[in-house]
Amino acid sequence: MLEHRHAKLVALFTFLMLVIGGTVNVKGASLACTEPTLFCRGELFPEMKGGVLYEHGHRLWGMGLGFLQIILTALLVIRRRDMRRLAWGTFAMVCVQGTLGALTVAFKLPWYVSTAHLLFGMVYFATLLWIVYLTRPAIGPLPEEQHRHRARLEALGSGRRWIELALGVLFVQLALGALVRHFEATLACIGMPECTVDGRWWTPFIEQRLHMIHRGFGIVTALVTLVAAVQVWRRAASWPALRALAVAAPVVAAAQVALGIFTVLTLRQDIVAVGHFAGAMLLWSAWIGAFIVTGSGRRSMVGAVAGEEKRRGFAGAVP
Ligand code: HEM
Repeated sequence: MLEHRHAKLVALFTFLMLVIGGTVNVKGASLACTEPTLFCRGELFPEMKGGVLYEHGHRLWGMGLGFLQIILTALLVIRRRDMRRLAWGTFAMVCVQGTLGALTVAFKLPWYVSTAHLLFGMVYFATLLWIVYLTRPAIGPLPEEQHRHRARLEALGSGRRWIELALGVLFVQLALGALVRHFEATLACIGMPECTVDGRWWTPFIEQRLHMIHRGFGIVTALVTLVAAVQVWRRAASWPALRALAVAAPVVAAAQVALGIFTVLTLRQDIVAVGHFAGAMLLWSAWIGAFIVTGSGRRSMVGAVAGEEKRRGFAGAVP
């Protein structure tokens, strides 16, 4: 239970870490601290004002996250031997994420490093959600839980494929968003819905093309989300948690498209741009959540179920 609570804390901390990371660029603070280390302008705790507040605040938050991850690794290694690989895996991931952040600064924001930094952060967050799921307390006796899970998966059928499709499309859209931001294409198109104010949709300029691809694929992402959510919802009558996620996903996707439009219309007002990033995180959380709960179940459950079924002479399905 302790490791479950702590995993939730680390996941929440990571969600906020990514959103705080999103403010760094919006505030134009990406290179406010020039050292690719934990120091900023020669100090661990410099005066937190201007760009330093955002850039170094992001680093300090990252240090806190690293510390929390070490505790999570220790808890899992000591208390959950079946999850040792995940414990060390997430520890390695947080180190890689920190290194990518440092490389972003060291090489003055190359597009592939800063995009990888964002996407890897999303993957790390998804892995933490998986740990949260795996460590959650059992709702009832394990065999019953496993049988109910199997019955639900059977009813879901191809719904799982729809979840995978929605996740794949969303991942591409996240990468496109990161590229728009990186190539400073945010205000390359200020017409709406056309790119230019004189009504052109497509121009020879790469930034404007990138911006329009992100807009267009944003609509595709929202539509795929809607169709996938309907397909999942229809097949999840006995699965309230999955149904809740299937309702949340299209609502967040619609808000996300609206925030994208307002990012342009308000000429990238800080709060709107950060909201657009937080919306992307929420949509990612919804689909990752759906992907995790429709997996094969708790790994620890499978072995325990076999043992318990044998001991109790368990037979037959459970409603
Ligand atoms: C489901 C749909 C969408 C998703 C998941 C999404 C996701 C993202 C992400 C992850 C970023 C990077 C933000 C950052 O790194 O700070 C971004 C940037 C951006 N998106 Fe979207 N987006 C979507 C739809 C749209 C739409 C429809 C528009 C415009 C009509 C739009 C306009 C923008 C703009 C202008 C930026 C740059 C923001 C900045 O520089 O701060 N997005 N998007």
